[in-house]
Amino acid sequence: MAATEKSPVTGAGPFNGILTWVDQRFPLVSLWKDHLSEYYAPKNFNFWYYFGSLAMLVLVIQIVSGIFLTMNYKPDAREAFASVEYIMRDVPAGWLIRYIHSTGASMFFIVVYLHMVRGLLYGSYRRPRELLWIFGMLIYLSLMAEAFFGYLLPWGQMSYWGAQVIINLFGTVPFIGEALAVWIRGDYNISDVTLNRFFALHVIALPLVLLGLVAAHIMALHEVGSNNPDGVEIKKHVDPVSRRPLDGIPFHPYYTVKDLMGVAVFLIVFSAILFFSPEMNGYFLEANNFIPANPLKTPTHIAPVWYFTPYYAMLRAVPPLFSSQFPGVAVMGAAVLIFFALPWLDRGRVKSIRYRGPRWKVAFALFVVSFLFLGYLGVEDTTVLGQFGKGLPVVGGDYVALWVARVLTIVYFLFFALMPWYTANDKEKPEPERVTW
Ligand code: HEM
Repeated sequence: MAATEKSPVTGAGPFNGILTWVDQRFPLVSLWKDHLSEYYAPKNFNFWYYFGSLAMLVLVIQIVSGIFLTMNYKPDAREAFASVEYIMRDVPAGWLIRYIHSTGASMFFIVVYLHMVRGLLYGSYRRPRELLWIFGMLIYLSLMAEAFFGYLLPWGQMSYWGAQVIINLFGTVPFIGEALAVWIRGDYNISDVTLNRFFALHVIALPLVLLGLVAAHIMALHEVGSNNPDGVEIKKHVDPVSRRPLDGIPFHPYYTVKDLMGVAVFLIVFSAILFFSPEMNGYFLEANNFIPANPLKTPTHIAPVWYFTPYYAMLRAVPPLFSSQFPGVAVMGAAVLIFFALPWLDRGRVKSIRYRGPRWKVAFALFVVSFLFLGYLGVEDTTVLGQFGKGLPVVGGDYVALWVARVLTIVYFLFFALMPWYTANDKEKPEPERVTW
């Protein structure tokens, strides 16, 4: 088609000439229409639907603050710790940039966990959104890797020993474990080589993967359309002439404006944490990480940052087999990977919690409680776990807290394992034809 034949820009406007020129060479207007002004989203979104756009915001915040940190950070085992201190003390607003990034990491996980809970509440992983969910899960895995690689960079005690523990977990894999651990470290011990490769992975490889996956996530979403708190498909009822969903409203301006409200509230909360408690009492940045890494001195209490602790508690709960920790590692891995299977485990006739039956509601409540409580148990060090069980009987030589963690791990897995049964045999309420509003 000749460049002058196409003129989709309509209406009077000062920039129409430029827009038409661009649009004849690049599908700007059709992209805008397909993904914003003519993307019809269900009109009954509630606050749970803020977290997708907030996750995108935090991703941008992390990338931008990360770029500024990189300007003064030195990925060298002899200089890394001091360069972070230099950023905190001497670089203008360096403390702010560093805290934005370190607090941002925790905020990312808070937002993503809430985003995932929404998916569970409204059955957003169900057909036809399985692939959207799988892209989401791949994002979650990449985010975990991104956080893990980033945590080594300040080269503090927790960076060093946390990485040591996690890499040693790979070392427990039968047959290939030791070789695998050396391959990840690039050395027989965590060293400058490890720091260099973690830096490369953290600042280039994983951000690229994350951006690519988020693009795929949004494309998949816009292909199938958004779910909503009622879990009914709005594409079933369309206007016979315009073919627009009767229960849909254009994403722009309605949800762009609504999401801005979410952004404002989020930035208030984020700033409050950033300026009043950036380390969150050791939950966002651990005290031990303000001590330079010392390969000769193991800290008494090594625990991951809060967002990994439910899985860490499971790892500790599983007893070793023939003095190998591998069973715990396998359970921990399975606990994350099992989310991929969710679209095929759920046999319910309705999607949203609003119309689910009592069995699903009980199972879901137990699952949430077990995840949160495991998270708590994972933060506490083993001596505290002992105190937690003080006064309570010691069972099989282990404190009760350990047994609590074991029971919770079982509850966690039963939520998934029994799902095909309890979702297929539940007393669900009839789903409405159209969204309720
Ligand atoms: C960087 C991380 C992520 C970003 C930027 C992101 C972005 C988004 C956005 C913008 C939406 C549409 C708005 C909304 O429904 O809230 C969305 C929807 C969705 N996301 Fe994500 N997401 C991320 C991670 C995840 C993860 C980890 C999962 C699950 C494992 C997930 C699963 C979903 C699902 C199922 C939907 C459709 C929800 C519905 O229509 O009800 N996302 N995502």
